Amino acid sequence: MYSEKEQLKNYKSIGIMGGTFDPIHYGHLATAEAVLHRFNMDKIIFMPTGHSYMKEDDVGEKVTPNEQRFMMTALATIRNKNFLTSRIEIDRKGKTYTVDTIEELKKMCGPDVHIYFITGADAIEQIMSWKNPEKLFSLCDFIAVTRPGYKKNKLYEEIGEIMGKYKGRIYYMQVPALEISSSDIRKRVADGQPIKYLLPESVEEYIEKFGLYKKPVKSEVKFMLDKSVMQEKLQSSLSIKRYIHTMGVVKEAKKLAKIYGDSTVVEKAQVAGLLHDCAKDYPADLKKRLCKEYHIELNDIMKEQIDLVHPFLGAEVAKREYLVDDEDILDAIKYHTTGRKNMSLLEKIVFIADYIEENRKPFEGLEEARRLAYIDLDLAMKFILEHTIDYVEERKLKLHPLSAEALEYYKNK
Ligand SMILES: [Fe+2]
Ligand SMILES: [Fe+2]
Repeated sequence: MYSEKEQLKNYKSIGIMGGTFDPIHYGHLATAEAVLHRFNMDKIIFMPTGHSYMKEDDVGEKVTPNEQRFMMTALATIRNKNFLTSRIEIDRKGKTYTVDTIEELKKMCGPDVHIYFITGADAIEQIMSWKNPEKLFSLCDFIAVTRPGYKKNKLYEEIGEIMGKYKGRIYYMQVPALEISSSDIRKRVADGQPIKYLLPESVEEYIEKFGLYKKPVKSEVKFMLDKSVMQEKLQSSLSIKRYIHTMGVVKEAKKLAKIYGDSTVVEKAQVAGLLHDCAKDYPADLKKRLCKEYHIELNDIMKEQIDLVHPFLGAEVAKREYLVDDEDILDAIKYHTTGRKNMSLLEKIVFIADYIEENRKPFEGLEEARRLAYIDLDLAMKFILEHTIDYVEERKLKLHPLSAEALEYYKNK
């Protein structure tokens, strides 16, 4: 076992990969490997930044603690014998400047070591504003890495300027087009999206184990899938028209829930609104097949008007495919078309929101229903049920028994 210092004594050529590594990913690793090979280096040293001078200018986002970023970097690099991870920057107290790091590193190496500092091409123009660029260029050369397609003219100009002024050496290298970024990975974790194959499995496991990058839970209602994931999934199974209607229902249900319910109802109303028509655009054959599979019994009316099955099927789909296990939400989806007697607050909200949402084309009774919804939900229920029944009778369709029961109930309330 050698210490960091002893190991470094033997190397003639090393590359430094500086970065926040929050988290490290395959883009960093592939870049390091490519540079190592091209410049025939002995080692690449990954150098997670400590309390970074540049970071203080960043707005908003918090950086993961030094030790955790170091651990992830060490895990990611451990299986490559040419990669090392250094603690120099994270162990240094106070502000971090590259020139100090390279100087410290150089003291640990043999006298004729050649050091390259690897950085993104975007950072090249900033080098002149770093601490003591003159000294920096006397200590190491730079390698500016870009993705293929990067506009090189500006880079050449900058390199020319730096070379003229500081006699520094800057190499330029194109690396494989990896679109992976740490900020995207953080966002994916926060949104509950997979990050597999973007970074080493060990780093993924570390992120999972320590719950890094997770969004703080605001509401007491928990869903297996994030709402944004549900929305994306839903969008792919609905027509544009239905999706616009759905988003109108979400908005309306949220508004009503804010008036009549607490924060839990607001949260549930949005998910119930989002999923209420999730099975509506399924082709008739698929609806029939799924009903059989999910043991949903079709009564005579549903057999005649297969579309009437969509709320019942929708509740099953919400449960099985969108992983919603809240019975309250599932019932609100199930009874959003027929209604039923003695409905819960959430059921009434979704039923009414479906009828009055802002994207509905004007029809007789719409404005009155909207007015009543903001006065009394039961009055709005009665009004909408009466209208629905008139509509059904005019078209000589059959009324679902649940709707008849519901009207009876709300008439006498
Ligand atoms: Fe519907
Ligand atoms: Fe609907």
